[in-house]
Amino acid sequence: MSKARIMSVFGTRPEAIKMAPLVRELTGREGLESLCCVTAQHREMLDSVLNIFKITPDYDLNIMEPGQTLSTITTKCLLGLEKVFQEAKPDLVLVHGDTTTAFSAALAAFYGKIPVGHVEAGLRTHDRYSPFPEEMNRTMVGDLAELHFSPTSANRKNLMAEGIEKGIYLTGNTVIDAMKTTVRPDFVFPAELLNHIDYENRKVIVVTCHRRENYGEPMENIMSALSHIARAHPETELIYPVHLSPVVQEAAHRHLDGIENVHLISPVDVEEMHNLMARCYMVMTDSGGLQEEAPALGKPVLVLRKETERPEAVQAGTVKLAGVDYDNIVSLAEALITDQNMYDGMAHAVNPYGDGSACIRIADAIEYRFGLRETPPAEFVAGTR
Ligand code: UD1
Ligand code: UDP
Repeated sequence: MSKARIMSVFGTRPEAIKMAPLVRELTGREGLESLCCVTAQHREMLDSVLNIFKITPDYDLNIMEPGQTLSTITTKCLLGLEKVFQEAKPDLVLVHGDTTTAFSAALAAFYGKIPVGHVEAGLRTHDRYSPFPEEMNRTMVGDLAELHFSPTSANRKNLMAEGIEKGIYLTGNTVIDAMKTTVRPDFVFPAELLNHIDYENRKVIVVTCHRRENYGEPMENIMSALSHIARAHPETELIYPVHLSPVVQEAAHRHLDGIENVHLISPVDVEEMHNLMARCYMVMTDSGGLQEEAPALGKPVLVLRKETERPEAVQAGTVKLAGVDYDNIVSLAEALITDQNMYDGMAHAVNPYGDGSACIRIADAIEYRFGLRETPPAEFVAGTR
């Protein structure tokens, strides 16, 4: 019997981190043939993940260009993937999350009448411009997909409220699976700086910021707030691996260069990032992935956005929405730095997003779809490990 051909398509750093353990799981399944196509919407930041997880893509569209627009990413992905799908003839295309790669790949698969599986399905803010364009990307992927792998029960509810009733599997988030292999107490950082930081006695704050809807005034506010926090609190050490987007690079360096306790460094690889977060005091970020990872490591997070599609850790008390106003960011950060009670109230490990077995459930659900298994996978139950 011929194997079902499952093609995973991804293009950015976070998609790669969250799809890598799934590619590995699919590769080990007897009845499935796992294929991997990268669009390379990101280049260096994607390659770093491929290296860590030892994935060699079968196809690489290599589309990235400096300062790319949403339209160039979409058209290059559509045209490239049309050819790849014609040649590889997958039986199912898997996409992840809410990037323009994910939307374009789902659309290209639909045009080729190939079923789509959506990993990390059902996250919503219900504001089409925030995050932009991600909210609309993931909603459109939801319409195009046949299989929906929802990390949490709230994500599943969002899909059902949109009239999607069939093909939803509650799996947990694959990023928690990835963390099983990356976080190690004896990890040695390749970068000297990160080995020499005194994590016990300094208040190490891990910072990231890159969202398109934060470009302009919100990002100016965020960077000014970070500058104030570092200068006013010499007991802190801000470690900020700066995203390679030219917009972010310019803003970060203009505001934060030359401050003694701020370290603007190149993006670190995913093992470094996870182990840095495991050792830090707190996290300030507009990233989606960091909002899921830091709570699992028991680290308080201030989210530098107006809303979040990941309310579970806010409800669990580990994450606070700081918004994008200077005063609010500064006052929440200063409270966490100086108020031990508040810090202790937030710094506890919670796992609303997964138990490390999401990829097994997704692969089981795919086998079920292709008649290779008689029963669907058991659901993820939050709070279990
Ligand atoms: C993209 C995703 C966003 C995700 C983020 C993860 C979309 C619309 N946005 O946003 O959802 O949160 O990735 O980081 O899909 N660059 C490099 N090298 C790299 C990566 C980026 O030089 O390895 C630079 C390039 O100049 C590129 C720019 O960053 O043009 C922006 O990259 P792009 O993928 O368009 O947007 P992100 O903000 O990274
Ligand atoms: N990350 C990384 N190196 C960095 C910054 C982030 O490996 O320098 C990882 C992080 O641990 C998480 C993912 O990249 O797994 C998040 O990516 P990003 O913030 O770019 O995108 P988002 O999650 O917001 O879509």
